[in-house]
Amino acid sequence: ADIREYQFDVQMTNVTRLCSSKSIVTVNGQFPGPTVFAREGDLVVVRVNNRATYNMSIHWHGIRQLRSGWADGPAYITQCPIQPGGSYVYKFTVTGQRGTLWWHAHISWLRATVYGPIVILPKPGVPYPFPAPHKELPVVFGEWWKADTEAVISQAMQSGGGPNVSDAFTINGLPGPLYNCSAKDTFKLKVEPGKTYMLRLINAALNDELFFSIAGHTLTVVDVDAVYVKPFTVDTLLITPGQTSNVLLTAKPSYPGATFYMLAAPYSTAMSGTFDNTTVAGILEYEDPSSRSTAAFNKNLPAFRPTLPRINDTSFVSNYTGKLRSLATAEYPANVPQQVDRRFFFTVGLGTHPCAVNGTCQGPNGSRFAASVNNVSFVLPTTALLQSHFAGRSGGVYLSNFPAMPASPFNYTGTPPNNTNVSNGTRLVVLPYGASVELVMQGTSILGAESHPFHLHGFNFFVVGQGFGNFDPVNDPAKYNLVDPVERNTVGVPAAGWVAIRFLADNPGVWFMHCHLEVHVSWGLKMAWVVQDGSLPNQKILPPPSDLPKC
Ligand code: C2O
Repeated sequence: ADIREYQFDVQMTNVTRLCSSKSIVTVNGQFPGPTVFAREGDLVVVRVNNRATYNMSIHWHGIRQLRSGWADGPAYITQCPIQPGGSYVYKFTVTGQRGTLWWHAHISWLRATVYGPIVILPKPGVPYPFPAPHKELPVVFGEWWKADTEAVISQAMQSGGGPNVSDAFTINGLPGPLYNCSAKDTFKLKVEPGKTYMLRLINAALNDELFFSIAGHTLTVVDVDAVYVKPFTVDTLLITPGQTSNVLLTAKPSYPGATFYMLAAPYSTAMSGTFDNTTVAGILEYEDPSSRSTAAFNKNLPAFRPTLPRINDTSFVSNYTGKLRSLATAEYPANVPQQVDRRFFFTVGLGTHPCAVNGTCQGPNGSRFAASVNNVSFVLPTTALLQSHFAGRSGGVYLSNFPAMPASPFNYTGTPPNNTNVSNGTRLVVLPYGASVELVMQGTSILGAESHPFHLHGFNFFVVGQGFGNFDPVNDPAKYNLVDPVERNTVGVPAAGWVAIRFLADNPGVWFMHCHLEVHVSWGLKMAWVVQDGSLPNQKILPPPSDLPKC
């Protein structure tokens, strides 16, 4: 195994998109940020120097962080923020994972511009379980606001209403030719006829699940969230914020000089067609051996355009996610917990907070937008939960009484209750080391049924079941897939439906879980798990590094 060392200088950088410039936070002046490369088993060491004007923390999304919780990164969960002028060294070993993950700022909305790929190659000499591609490259979806995104969210939190939607989606930071002023800011993928390419897809957008398709070509999904899946081929795929997926694209044998659009556009049941920052386009172009010149890129717009599903096509989404299966082979087993020690049932969805002066906020009926898990809208503490837990001092920082199920059940996907108010709290679930956990997440229809991409830090989980309507605790578990369910770190809780996951609590520490739509995080759609130390020496959390930032 190797040591992979990186230096991230977080800094303010001027960037122009859609004919308008602003100062954004970047890493090393790059947008999107640099790619972190590692092989399975390597130690990754990233020194982060904060030379920007904001507090910062970096999360290594999907990295298991076995006993290295101090390096996980979510602000006020595992660490205090790195203040301007400060530094912190993140150190973690990549254990049992290979594929694509990503890193992003994990404080406020700074991940809007502070993100980049993590490429994890298999151990030396270990091949992919599919034919090796000719080339591999990251394809990172993002979301761009002309306004300052910190101002966008703070304005929304003050008014109680929803934040302004973004002005464009991007591929590798580029909006593409369907937006004004952006033809020169277009991601271009040049391919050779007959060759196979592996696209490392990452959805780094703040608030939108995305459909993705390339005209005239199919995509073969071979991996999600750095876990191999049984390969399957589609015209269009869905990727939620937080998710990653490796897909194979085989260029046709003979399209010399031809160009094709690749498009991404949102899936949203809440936006019902009125959302109008539409579509990011990139261009797939065949190398023409007879005229291999830059002129090939300057031709008129390509003629071929894929057709994406409707913005609210939930049946497309459930059909797509239903195809995902673990390899479940001797070499890549699916270690699905067959027994369950602890069961949880969480409602996830939107709600309201009353306004200080009744009826004057810009949310529903003059209230403020809020969001909750089991009616608890999570409040970040002012010091890091992991530090409090490690020091054995929870008192005054958090409560360990997160409800295992809703206090009063209701018809989750039917007519919403009259009172939509949620309660505030910093409440956690405490799990004994090694507990095997089943969690059913039930979407609610309060203020509209919407899909919520839930992400768990510190673990992969198996998606053992999903369905529409209210979860039926008698009949639904009988249909669980306990043989080859997909293993991942971020799963969409279906709009007006539920998802059941299982994981083994074998990683001591404090682990954040939240919807990966950033506006929902701001409204409180998040919670945290404490996994206690086990009895053996290698089952305990290690002491904090000496440079851990202070609050
Ligand atoms: Cu990628 Cu806590 O998130």
